[in-house]
Amino acid sequence: MRSIVHTITVQTASGEYPVSIGNALSGSVVKRFSAIFSQRKNVYVLTSPEIWSLWSARLLAALLPLEPVVLFLRSGEQFKRLGEVERLASELAGAGADRSSLLIAFGGGVIGDVGGFLAAIYMRGIDYVQMPTTLLAQVDSSVGGKTGVNLRAGKNLVGSFHHPRAVLADTHVLSTLSTRELRAGLHESIKAGLIRDAALFRFIEKNTPAIDRREPGVLEKIVRASVRMKSEVVHLDERESGLRMILNFGHTIGHAIEAAGGYGALLHGEAVAWGMVVALRISRNRNYLTAAVEERAVRVIVALDPPPLPSFSAKRLLTIASRDKKNRAGSRRFVLLQGIGQAVVVEDVSDAEVTEAIAAAIAMSRARQAR
Ligand SMILES: NC(=O)c1ccc[n+]([C@@H]2O[C@H](COP(=O)([O-])OP(=O)(O)OC[C@H]3O[C@@H](n4cnc5c(N)ncnc54)[C@H](O)[C@@H]3O)[C@@H](O)[C@H]2O)c1
Ligand SMILES: [Zn+2]
Repeated sequence: MRSIVHTITVQTASGEYPVSIGNALSGSVVKRFSAIFSQRKNVYVLTSPEIWSLWSARLLAALLPLEPVVLFLRSGEQFKRLGEVERLASELAGAGADRSSLLIAFGGGVIGDVGGFLAAIYMRGIDYVQMPTTLLAQVDSSVGGKTGVNLRAGKNLVGSFHHPRAVLADTHVLSTLSTRELRAGLHESIKAGLIRDAALFRFIEKNTPAIDRREPGVLEKIVRASVRMKSEVVHLDERESGLRMILNFGHTIGHAIEAAGGYGALLHGEAVAWGMVVALRISRNRNYLTAAVEERAVRVIVALDPPPLPSFSAKRLLTIASRDKKNRAGSRRFVLLQGIGQAVVVEDVSDAEVTEAIAAAIAMSRARQAR
């Protein structure tokens, strides 16, 4: 098979790394990325049993002549925990991993976040490569260097910034992803389009059926545009002191929905979908957006049929949103839109505005269910 791979370079304060998108795991990645893979005595793969049963043959063929040691983390957000990191670090030590070892995180965002964190702290930091296998991980979580695990007190409360040496996103592996997971990941690309890339938004708007069919060219284009957007933002603001905050569009309320549901009711991307509906409503109420633009954006989001919003009260979501770690003391920071592709960060969104918009989203969700 001819391998078509596009590479985007992410530039960071500590150096730069390639994100290769396409049939990234066909052919020898060892040869193609010799600077990263050659002369490694020890290569380790972190993955989940499900992903390994589907895609081990493709990965092992791509890594030849390297023969990696495989470590497993069970699937699910509940395994993104410090206890698992300790177990995995002990397994690395038991298998003889040293400072020059390379870890490959081969899975969705959970594997990527745990693998990245393990690489950040094992022997005070070893190299790792992200090979994301979900759409969410390909368009979002594998790029940007945020790694970490959850505490009982909340998501991603322990972690570190540690950039991978490379990201290799093979859109072919998305063929086995469930439609629900695929669509949840697509919401992060819709977000990317809404905040900074109107052309990407229009592309998704026109191609939703082709995305559901996993047409390779279409998926590749979406991953490329989303990664390009994120890498630009990360380059301009690596540590999230300014611009990078726009990536949280839909996430203030999205995180509150996830927390209120005990992280089981909706997938992350689905919660973000409803969070974006809320942020769009506030933007429209402030006349930042016309009704027509708001409706157009909402139409693309709900066309993916996010599961109904569980029946939390607006007040409960607001209380949880106020605890979000991304809020600075005393003010509620919100990302709103001033047009498709134009995000703005504001500090003065009132409780009343948020409550009204949440109530409107709940009403919309109920009306859709009743149909
Ligand atoms: N670091 C960041 O910047 C960042 C950004 C966004 C999200 N995240 C994190 O990402 C996580 C969510 O990631 P996710 O949505 O990828 O979920 P996930 O990693 O839990 O994967 C979802 C499910 O898909 C399965 N799967 C993965 N690849 C598959 C494939 N190719 N075929 C079939 N099944 C496959 C997994 O086993 C799992 O059951 C969250 O923990 C979130 O906090 C991190
Ligand atoms: Zn997200």
